[in-house]
Amino acid sequence: MKPFDSKTKLAEAVFQDFNLLRVISRFGIFPGFGDKTIGEICKKKEIDPVFFLIIVNSFTNKRYFPSHELADFSLSQMVSYLQKTHTYYLDFQLPLIGDMIDNLCNNRNPENKKLMVMKQFFSAYRKELTDHINREEKITFPYVLRIEQIFSNSESIQGKESDYDMLTYEKEHDNVEEKLIDLKNIMIKYLPEPFDHEMVIRILTELSWLEKDLNEHSRIEDTIMIPRVKIMEVGIRKRF
Ligand SMILES: [Fe+2]
Ligand SMILES: [Fe+2]
Repeated sequence: MKPFDSKTKLAEAVFQDFNLLRVISRFGIFPGFGDKTIGEICKKKEIDPVFFLIIVNSFTNKRYFPSHELADFSLSQMVSYLQKTHTYYLDFQLPLIGDMIDNLCNNRNPENKKLMVMKQFFSAYRKELTDHINREEKITFPYVLRIEQIFSNSESIQGKESDYDMLTYEKEHDNVEEKLIDLKNIMIKYLPEPFDHEMVIRILTELSWLEKDLNEHSRIEDTIMIPRVKIMEVGIRKRF
């Protein structure tokens, strides 16, 4: 598949992958964009088209890797996108799935106490993902923004920035999708009857979407954020 470019009509991209609607909403773009191209919409919304295209293309094509465009957008823009995604997980997607699982477990018709295992599993997962996100928000993102500032102002690394680096983040950046896959596996293979079949299908649909979205999110952190910041770290150290 040919990557989208600034001349691609946004509606055409959305027709190719409907889930893009959830991604572009993080840029403040919602349905009703007519036949406007990606370039036209980015200009109107004051969005950097290079960054927007990296996000949209990497979401729709796993093999897409924007190596030659890596240097062309600001990290603050990327951090802001990643933060919006975090907020979406914490305030929308996790509560939505939590409510659906509560509904499934508390349903007295049919009543099935064995389903509570799923509830416990999900709440442990929810805590794990929340902790992961909180650590990035409190430590990693402020560090990334500070490094970008130090890099562009020709300052030196001092104070708390010197106690942390991208290698530390890279080593501790764990895979948050694994447990989601385990939960889907339990539901698909071993869920004890009786249960609300339609609700289980809906929960699985939302879990699968979360898994795909998290996968993409982590790919941006691992393959775009880490190498960009490491290049800046080297550049800063060379100056002093
Ligand atoms: Fe993240
Ligand atoms: Fe992460």
